[in-house]
Amino acid sequence: MATILDGKAHADRMLETVRQGVEVRLAKGLRAPGLAVVLVGEDPASQVYVRNKSAACAKVGITSIEHRLPADTAQADLDALIDRLNADSGVDGILVQLPLPQGLDSKRALHRISPAKDVDGFHPVNQGLLLEGLPGLRPCTPSACMSLLAHHGVELKGIRAVVLGRSEIVGKPMALMLLEQHATVTIAHSRTKDLAGICREADLLVAAVGRPGLVEGSWIKPGAVVVDVGINRVEDEILGGRIFAQEPKKLDTLRTKGGVLCGDVRYGEAMAVASAVTPVPGGVGPLTIAGLLTNALAAANREV
Ligand code: GUN
Repeated sequence: MATILDGKAHADRMLETVRQGVEVRLAKGLRAPGLAVVLVGEDPASQVYVRNKSAACAKVGITSIEHRLPADTAQADLDALIDRLNADSGVDGILVQLPLPQGLDSKRALHRISPAKDVDGFHPVNQGLLLEGLPGLRPCTPSACMSLLAHHGVELKGIRAVVLGRSEIVGKPMALMLLEQHATVTIAHSRTKDLAGICREADLLVAAVGRPGLVEGSWIKPGAVVVDVGINRVEDEILGGRIFAQEPKKLDTLRTKGGVLCGDVRYGEAMAVASAVTPVPGGVGPLTIAGLLTNALAAANREV
């Protein structure tokens, strides 16, 4: 039976480090870090994320400033707000919540944020610094996953790592961070031939594709470490019956509540083959906010 890599516990450790860092600033007579969160429109999932971010900021002493704009906001008005936040000396970090409503160009918005305040690590300058292996603000989810792996003493040097997914938010930066730690990295994706065979070679498998239960137990090399970045809601009982064959509790929740959260990996099957697995929920999910607040403190301290 694999070890459960508890993301919530690690997120709490990371948040405690941030809280102490904020205290050090205050003891020096500096102000608390300021994080501006821009939410355009009414996307329900985004509203939940933003609420969770504000609550986490309050816990660690970071000042969170929310800017809510209507869904029909013009790009020029979003640009103007970002310009104002870039120029505001009380704002250390700026996060524009994604996805933006239709009609708004997210790349244009993300590229407009000052790289020094880009706490998401999505600006091309920060992505370029990561590519070069130089310090910069790095994407929160992969940074926090690296921190989780380091905490659990997972050896990366020389191992075969497979990253399933090629997004700019997770897959690509995760691959670069693993490469920096001397792993031999393969990025696999929806067009990869023999996905199962590629995954089966991985000593470390990172799944970040957003496909519920895609990774079966038979895709996992015995003793591998599995990091499941996917957070999917499954409502279909036929799909649930297939992917939760080894997780009767999930299947039960799906049947009684009409839906259940799960990752990209079939957790029950993975637990029987792997040496360590992140659960969903309670794995990578809580780490993203911890990574964000770590970046907000670093931006305030101008450490990167
Ligand atoms: N929407 C969902 N996740 C994220 C994230 O990490 N950053 C931003 N800006 N938007 C998101």
